Amino acid sequence: MNLNAGRNFEGLDDSAIELRARRALAGLFNVADPNRVIFTSGITASLNMILNGLLKEGDHVLTSGVEHNAVARPLEMLRRKGVIEVDHLQCQADGTLDPESVHKAFLPNTRLVVLTHASNVLGTILPIRECFRIARERGALTVLDAAQTAGVFPFSMDDQNIDVLAFTGHKGLRGLAGTGGFVLSPSAAEQMAPWLSGGTGSASDNLEQPDFLPDKFEPGTHNILGILSLALSVEEILRLGVDVIRAREMTLTAKFLELCEGLPNLRVHGPKDAKRSAAIVSVDSPGGDVGVMAGRLYYEHGVITRSGLHCSPLAHKTAGTFPHGTLRFSLGYDTTEKELFDVAEALKKVL
Ligand SMILES: Cc1ncc(COP(=O)(O)O)c(C=O)c1O
Repeated sequence: MNLNAGRNFEGLDDSAIELRARRALAGLFNVADPNRVIFTSGITASLNMILNGLLKEGDHVLTSGVEHNAVARPLEMLRRKGVIEVDHLQCQADGTLDPESVHKAFLPNTRLVVLTHASNVLGTILPIRECFRIARERGALTVLDAAQTAGVFPFSMDDQNIDVLAFTGHKGLRGLAGTGGFVLSPSAAEQMAPWLSGGTGSASDNLEQPDFLPDKFEPGTHNILGILSLALSVEEILRLGVDVIRAREMTLTAKFLELCEGLPNLRVHGPKDAKRSAAIVSVDSPGGDVGVMAGRLYYEHGVITRSGLHCSPLAHKTAGTFPHGTLRFSLGYDTTEKELFDVAEALKKVL
């Protein structure tokens, strides 16, 4: 079977499909030029390209104490190679970050401030607009890991002082796994060097990577079915309205937090306030094993959770849940209140 044979969608060829997806994503993140949307295989690929493309020897980077390894490991790799210095801004145990800490930790060679928008362990929303304003005022570029918030939070790259926004396709954007990308401010697009190079189907007589967008950062054959999935899912999100999605997720999170509060022997981590959180609730039970709890929830009650460190040892060190980790519930726009009651009942039995 040739899966590529069905690739022509509604008469659109590859570049028309890409443009459709770029336009939808540019609408979602509020940027004027769709060519500033770059496709990759996900946030991990995006962050490797962004960090390696922007950082030079002697640069200092500020990041937070709740970052996913997609941020922390590429930075650590550059640090170990002796290219950069990194400081992790201390967050409170619930993940809260004081923007003033950016001021305090800023050095003359701080070139980049890299933050996650919401912790994938604690749900905590970081004060990115304020942190990034301080960073920009002092001459640094700003990079956002929007894995937990793209598609479920309203965005404006200009208003939020974001130079580069990295997104993944398979979470709030509801696209296929293995999709994602990043969006660039005009200044970041100029300053960032390509980290991957190769054929683009453009300026092929030149051995140098083209310097125009999106080709500068998109060598090789694209995941066109993945990109099509993003075009369709993001158009659907825009029709529905991100504000509507966020409001619904907040209501569900508040309800689930309330249900968890009533359960004995359960500790809830994170801000415990839906307004300050993405739709994530992380728990543990004193003396209990979160892996066993996750297994019992799944095999005895059909509830899918994720347990352990969630690729974010820094967040667990911040929360005081390292190395045992937590049990994490992820709610979504389609979650029903009945499901929340059923999950709380199942959790009560497991506890
Ligand atoms: C906060 C955060 N950053 C980065 C990633 C990695 O995203 P991707 O799987 O698209 O590389 C995830 C996914 O788990 C995440 O939650």
